[in-house]
Amino acid sequence: MRLHVVDHPLVAHKLTTLRDQRTDSATFRRLADELVTLLAYEATRDVRTETVGIRTPVAQTTGVKLARPRPLVVPILRAGLGMLDGMVRLLPTAEVGFLGMIRNEETLEASTYASRMPEDLSGRQVYVLDPMLATGGTLVAAIRELIRRGADDVTAVVLLAAPEGVEVMERELAGTPVTVVTAAVDDHLNEHGYIIPGLGDAGDRLYG
Ligand code: PRP
Repeated sequence: MRLHVVDHPLVAHKLTTLRDQRTDSATFRRLADELVTLLAYEATRDVRTETVGIRTPVAQTTGVKLARPRPLVVPILRAGLGMLDGMVRLLPTAEVGFLGMIRNEETLEASTYASRMPEDLSGRQVYVLDPMLATGGTLVAAIRELIRRGADDVTAVVLLAAPEGVEVMERELAGTPVTVVTAAVDDHLNEHGYIIPGLGDAGDRLYG
């Protein structure tokens, strides 16, 4: 697994406002959307392309287009939905699948309650969206399912990660073609599984 922490002043600025408890839901949604677009720019650095010939008004030349099969974008409901528009703004031709997952707040175990994705993901690049990588249980389960269906390149775009979750992903997904792109790796997880300092419960702040 590869970890990429995006180091950019605009990313840091938007993340700081997301963290601030005074930021209301409407502003939180707008900033999360803007932040995802910045992360998406980095996350798509290795998106597959193919060479095409085109004619400009004055000459013949070559350029690139996104390769087939199209990439798949998978927001993890509920909070990942707040990242979908920001991602598909950069990848408007991507196909979109959905995974509904919930973390039991006592055991911190993740379970899947909805899934709507192509069964065969052979040869597909997949971008998974989830604002928080806390214990890592949700993303490990989601990515295992994508790899089981044949995905051969998975990038998780997360707003914030805890070092404990990164470690779990590195251990559980060792040797798999997985990249995690995040705006920051925070200090630690508290006893309730919340990222510290974090930004609170992303789902509640987006939709609560
Ligand atoms: C939150 C968050 C992640 C998950 C992270 O979702 O959006 O999906 O927890 O935790 P983990 O890394 O410890 O698994 P939650 O279960 O609160 O659902 P929601 O998105 O519907 O609010």
